[in-house]
Amino acid sequence: MRFSRRQFINSAAAVIATPALIGRAIAATGGRDLPIPDVLDLSGGGGVPALDAMAARTEIMDGAKSVTVGYGQGFLGPVIRMKRGETARLNLGNRIKEPVTVHWHEMHIDGAQDGGPHSPVDTGGVLEAALDIDQPAATLWYHSHIHQRTGIQVYYGLAGMLIIDDPDAADSGLPQTYGVDDIPLVVQDRIFDRGGQMLYAPQGPTRMMGYRGSEILVNGAIRPRAIVPAGLVRLRILNGSNARIYHFTFEDGRVFHQVASDGGLLPMPVAMNTLTLAPAERVEIVVDFSAGATRLLSAPDTNMGMMGGGMMGGMMRGASPEAVADGGVFEVMSFAVDNSRKAPVTTLAKTLAGAPIPEFGEPVRHRRFALNMGMGMGMMRGGGSMAINGKSMDMAVINQELKSGEAEIWEVSTEMMAHPFHVHGTSFQVLTLNGRKVDYTKTGLKDVVLVDGTAELLVQVNRKADAKQPFMFHCHILEHEDMGMMGQFTVS
Ligand code: C2O
Ligand code: CU
Ligand code: CU
Repeated sequence: MRFSRRQFINSAAAVIATPALIGRAIAATGGRDLPIPDVLDLSGGGGVPALDAMAARTEIMDGAKSVTVGYGQGFLGPVIRMKRGETARLNLGNRIKEPVTVHWHEMHIDGAQDGGPHSPVDTGGVLEAALDIDQPAATLWYHSHIHQRTGIQVYYGLAGMLIIDDPDAADSGLPQTYGVDDIPLVVQDRIFDRGGQMLYAPQGPTRMMGYRGSEILVNGAIRPRAIVPAGLVRLRILNGSNARIYHFTFEDGRVFHQVASDGGLLPMPVAMNTLTLAPAERVEIVVDFSAGATRLLSAPDTNMGMMGGGMMGGMMRGASPEAVADGGVFEVMSFAVDNSRKAPVTTLAKTLAGAPIPEFGEPVRHRRFALNMGMGMGMMRGGGSMAINGKSMDMAVINQELKSGEAEIWEVSTEMMAHPFHVHGTSFQVLTLNGRKVDYTKTGLKDVVLVDGTAELLVQVNRKADAKQPFMFHCHILEHEDMGMMGQFTVS
C-alpha cells in the first residue's frame, strides 16, 4: 500500500493525539459512574460456565452506538476470579465472524492451556478450557491473541481482568470488598469518529509507533467517576491499551502506596506520587480517600522514538500544533467520596503478609533478544515488518527451546523507542535496566517490563509447552506484536 503525504500527516496527527487536555477536561468531568464489571467466579467447581466472544452495539459516546466485541457480554469481559489449587473450567465459544483466542496473560499454565495464537476458537466453535491454577494471588488479564489480529481484537473489546486468589496465603490485610474498596480499573485509550464509532486504522506512524487514542476509557466508560468510601481503597489497575504508556498521578499530588505488581504482592507497600504503567502491566495501589475527592491524571506518552525529533517530528508538530505545544496532563477518571460510608480497612500494614517469595535456581544459560523496529520509513509507507533477533514472528518456527525449571538470564535490547517486553507462562525478575541494578522489593515479580535500552531478566518457566502450542515472547505494543515483534519457545 502506498501512503500519500496527506494521509501520512493525518495519521501523524493521530499518533500524537493527546487525550482531552486538562483545561478542557474540567468542563467534561461529571461523566458516567464507573462501571464495575460483573464477576465470573470460577472457584469452588460447580457448573462449567460459557464465555462466548460476541459482537454488539454499545453506547460509549453519548447518543451514539459503536460496534464492539466482548467475552460473554457486548463489550470487554467480566472480571474472572480463580482460586489457587483448583482447576478452573469454562467453555470458550465464538459467535463473531473471525477466529479468536482467550490468552491467559501470565497464568503459569502449560502451552496447551495458554490460549496463544495456536489455540484459535473458530466461528461457531467451542473450546473446553481447564486451567490448573498454581501461582500466587495476583491481578492478571485475559485477551485475544490471534496471529496478526491481536491489536484490532483487543481494541474492539476482547479483553478483561483476571484475579487469582490464594486461600492458603497469609492475609495481607488489604482492602478486599469487590467494587467497594477493591476496585478494578481497566484503562484503555480509543479514537472515535464523528459518528461516535470506535476507530482502529493504524497506518504509517500509528502502525510504526503504536496506535494511541484521544479518549480515555476506564472499564469501557469515558473518563468515568467512581464513588468511594472515605478511607483506604485498593485500585487494581490494568493498562489494557494497545500502545499508550501512562504516567499516573493524582490531581492533588497525594501520596499513594503500590502494594502489588504483575506477579502479585510486593514484600512491603511502596510510597509514591507518580506511577508509570506500560501496556499490559498491572499494579495494585492503595489510596487514602479520607483526604477527599480527587482526579486520576496522566502525563502524556512521549514514547514516539524518532518521531519526536527531526523531520518526522517537524511534520507532526506542523500537523497538530496544539497537541504538541502543551499537550499536557490529562484526566483518566475522577473520584467522589461518600462520607457516609466508612472504609472497612483503616490501616495499611508495613509488610504485606502473603507476598510471594521468588524461587529461581542458579541461572544456567544466557540468551539475547534484540527487538528490531525494521526499516523505518519503508515501513511507514506500509511495508516491512518488525522482528526479534532479525526474525519476524513465523507460526511455523520455534525460536528458542527452554528446559522446565531451569533459570536463565535473558538480555533484552531495544531500538528507537521503549518496548514493553512480555514472556508467556511465567513471572520473571528484573535484574538490571540499562546496567543499573533493580530493587526486587520495589518491582516484585513481573511478566511485562518496559525496556528502553537494555534489561537483564531472570527467567524460569516451570511449565511445559511443545512445538504445537508453544509459548510466546513479544513486545506488548500490539501493533508491534502484530507486525512480527514476537517469537515462540518450547519448554520441555
Ligand atoms: Cu498479553 Cu502474548 O500476551
Ligand atoms: Cu501473555
Ligand atoms: Cu515494541
